[in-house]
Amino acid sequence: KKRVGILTAGGDSPGLNAAIRGFGKAAIGTHGMELIGFRDGIRGLAEDRWQELDGTALSGILTVGGTVLGTSRDKAHKMVVDGEVRDMVPTIVENCERNKLDALVCIGGGGTAKNANRLREAGLNVIHLPKTIDNDIAHTDTSFGFSTALGIATEAIDRLHSTAHSHHRVIIAEIMGHKAGWLALGSGIAGGADIILIPEIPYDVESIAESIKKRAASGRNFSVIAIAEGARDVADSADLQAAIALVKSASTPEAKAAAKQHKASVEAGHRDNAFKVATELEAATGLESRVTILGYVQRGGTPDANDRLLGTLLGTAGADLVAEGHFGVTVASQAGEAVPVPLEDVAGNLKTVPVDHPWIAAARHVGTGFGD
Ligand code: F6P
Repeated sequence: KKRVGILTAGGDSPGLNAAIRGFGKAAIGTHGMELIGFRDGIRGLAEDRWQELDGTALSGILTVGGTVLGTSRDKAHKMVVDGEVRDMVPTIVENCERNKLDALVCIGGGGTAKNANRLREAGLNVIHLPKTIDNDIAHTDTSFGFSTALGIATEAIDRLHSTAHSHHRVIIAEIMGHKAGWLALGSGIAGGADIILIPEIPYDVESIAESIKKRAASGRNFSVIAIAEGARDVADSADLQAAIALVKSASTPEAKAAAKQHKASVEAGHRDNAFKVATELEAATGLESRVTILGYVQRGGTPDANDRLLGTLLGTAGADLVAEGHFGVTVASQAGEAVPVPLEDVAGNLKTVPVDHPWIAAARHVGTGFGD
């Protein structure tokens, strides 16, 4: 009997439980495997905290938000243990051996793909299932979590229109997405935002102010702006790119540490960016400007039908791959099918929005501005 471990890592996301359930039911029911679930992601794996998962544990979780296994954002090779940063990869390998695991399933986003790839390099039989509301995982058309978050953010933009038009205000909705603009772009289009600001297209506040003033002159004296949390104006974006380049080019560990610290301070200076945009736009347009941060609401609650479907498709396909002994892959979604993609091609490979993406062209056609 094959014995498999499963965990969820990184930010919680709708569809995680659908994937756990899909994998588990196929692994236990179809393939006759034994399944254990590690608590709290990579941390529980390093600390050897787990529970047996059987049919009963997997029942009734399809529609539940978050993850029944718990999660954390730890890195296997750099984990804070007793106040010290330690490489826990050897401990994790030992734990998997002691628990007689034939395979380990890691469900998570980009950070989890990196962790999974490290564990693969250390000799474990790993499978990665792609989840994130950010939709920024390479080689998969969509990750589960994205569709639900897209729906929530779209509804929020719809609702913000009420106050915007009633009070003649500029309302700026800050939308998650990490370094990628998928969520802000998708919900901005679907929610009819007048302006969409994403990390892939650095903006100029003057140009945004001009389009708001033009709208006001034509009688529409309100605007709704969807701003991705990673969006920056031209100057801030250039500073950030320079800081990233410095980290990449650092040739000694000391230089790398200093460059990373510099990058962190640049990023810290960009915090509250949506509020900065609001202040600048209010000054430039004379219209009251307010910010709504959608935050964790975007990740919460029951997954929509798409995410339940995708979690189930990729989860069950993952169990088939374990049964075949096909490891070291992300189970990607490509043209509606579950396709194994080598983990080394996914790990560390962020999928941002190409500036010639059809969604951007469509948005421009309907008159949406990008502040460029
Ligand atoms: O990756 C999902 C995500 O929600 C991002 O959109 C956001 O940048 C990040 O997680 C927030 O992280 P945390 O849960 O650690 O606050």
